[in-house]
Amino acid sequence: MLIRNAIIIAVLIAATSASAQRPSDKHPLIIGHRGASGYLPDHTVEAYELAVAQGADYIEPDFVASKDGYLFARHENELSLSTNVAEVFPDKKTKRTIEGKVVEGWFSEDLTHDEMKKLRARQPFKFRDQSHNDKYVIPTLAEVLALRASLSRQHKRSIGVIPELKHPDYYRAMNFPVEGWMVQIMEAWALDRAGSPLIVQAFDASSVEKMNNMMPNIPAIQLLTDDDDISDAALAKIKTYADGIGPPKNLIVPTKGDAAGKPTNLIQRAHKIGLKVYPYTFRPEKQFLPASYAGDPAKEYCLFATLGADGLFTDTPDRALKAYIESCPMPR
Ligand code: G3P
Ligand code: CA
Repeated sequence: MLIRNAIIIAVLIAATSASAQRPSDKHPLIIGHRGASGYLPDHTVEAYELAVAQGADYIEPDFVASKDGYLFARHENELSLSTNVAEVFPDKKTKRTIEGKVVEGWFSEDLTHDEMKKLRARQPFKFRDQSHNDKYVIPTLAEVLALRASLSRQHKRSIGVIPELKHPDYYRAMNFPVEGWMVQIMEAWALDRAGSPLIVQAFDASSVEKMNNMMPNIPAIQLLTDDDDISDAALAKIKTYADGIGPPKNLIVPTKGDAAGKPTNLIQRAHKIGLKVYPYTFRPEKQFLPASYAGDPAKEYCLFATLGADGLFTDTPDRALKAYIESCPMPR
């Protein structure tokens, strides 16, 4: 145990000293995707803390709803992949139809706040470190915002938060006004004002529009999938209710087979009409990193920095920072 604690402290000290070296403002923002989720179970205080220690500018929590109206940081409302829910509440297994698909499992909307607090997080990717499983609790939105404020003080820089609402249309059908819940908490934390370290995002266009209307001073990001229309006309429509787009990397550097192909002009076209661009998701493992980068994630970070991305969602903020400082420094 002593050795393990010493290792964790050493990792944190190394991460903290690396983050003392900041990239230039011209580098894309480093967004800790689900925290430093490449290292720790995602959407936990511990994963967000590590992301910031590793140099993240923003932390990225996804949110799902509990039965009694709390927003909890989870990537899916079906909880069995990322928590120990099956062992804690074996009787709550059921079936739900989510976005047209029947899903069997354990759902956040069937658990109260206090029941959600009994769960512990797990690393959902089996090829990542499983040794932190079943230790960390699931934070609420209010707890993530309290953490953001405290990390900003601790690291003496303003840490941003870029929350994503998951399945807003599904919750709408349940009469769960999740956008309103989110905005109410942001207002309570005075994060709805111009210049606040907050960006909101969702895949559901009506949800992005709603948040943009409720918090007009806060940038809103329309997330895209590989199949979305990215014509000039589609971008112009997005511009009517959003400030930026969050495309999968593939829409900027298409992967052909196992090789990264010629970059598209999506970033230039978006910038031309005033939309920022935040691609996702940068991951170092070979399943996610095209072979043409020769196993070196720095090459991918630097390519997207050169192409002019405004921010990058990454599971490993330390690798983004290292790439920016060592492989592609940009003029300040
Ligand atoms: O929000 C950007 C990116 O996180 C979208 O993908 O599925 O990881 O939430 P996902
Ligand atoms: Ca997300």
